[in-house]
Amino acid sequence: MAVMDFSDVIRTTGATRQFTDDPLPDEVLERILDNARFSPSGGNRQGTHAIVVRDPQTRDQLAELAVPGARRYIAQLRNGEGPWNPLQPCLVDAETIAAVEVPTGSPLREAPVVLVVCVDLAVVAAFDQHLDRIGVIAGASVYPFVWSILLAARNEGYGGVLTTAVVAEEPRVKELLGIPQDYAVAALLPLGKPVRQLTKLTRKPVAEIATRERFDGEPFST
Ligand SMILES: Cc1cc2nc3c(=O)[nH]c(=O)nc-3n(C[C@H](O)[C@H](O)[C@H](O)COP(=O)(O)O)c2cc1C
Repeated sequence: MAVMDFSDVIRTTGATRQFTDDPLPDEVLERILDNARFSPSGGNRQGTHAIVVRDPQTRDQLAELAVPGARRYIAQLRNGEGPWNPLQPCLVDAETIAAVEVPTGSPLREAPVVLVVCVDLAVVAAFDQHLDRIGVIAGASVYPFVWSILLAARNEGYGGVLTTAVVAEEPRVKELLGIPQDYAVAALLPLGKPVRQLTKLTRKPVAEIATRERFDGEPFST
């Protein structure tokens, strides 16, 4: 079992979308999940479920189901919009979106394994459910698990990417994989050996993302 320095793992887990032909054996994947399961969830209800998809046909279907979401994403980007942003209406018409060509090469097809991570909505606590804004708290009971999978994979010399485009077609994904009614699909994680490992990620410095005492307080910096 590869063990990296924690600081190296957390600072170098970037999005991996290109994979070598190396397999990701079940034993390694089990270890990755065995580490990731220590992530937190609201009330420790642990409503997460990961489906390990290796079947190429199923992965192909998942890649197809990601296309409509990706089309709108690309169309809005081209139109200078924030793609799929909940605060901004989509200004691109349906015909333009439908005409967008999405590259057929997809990490969902090319990775040796895809994890479909779901969360049981019947056990999440969503303290923001009555607010007049899009919910984010329910996701907090699943994304720590998702991110821990990516960190644990990095620690083993593997990589992956958190993808969500397919969720725009969630009913069809649920039908394809037999996912129960109360579950939501949170992410698809293609995982494998990275073709190249980035070691320097582009991220904002602490002083840009943290302030003292108030949102408009001084930048947090020593
Ligand atoms: C909520 C969320 C959704 C994402 N959805 C997708 C996706 O659908 N497809 C994709 O290729 N990457 C997706 N990503 C990956 C991001 O693009 C990536 O983490 C970010 O650009 C940083 O890339 P880097 O680690 O290479 O710097 C998603 C990431 C997050 C956190």
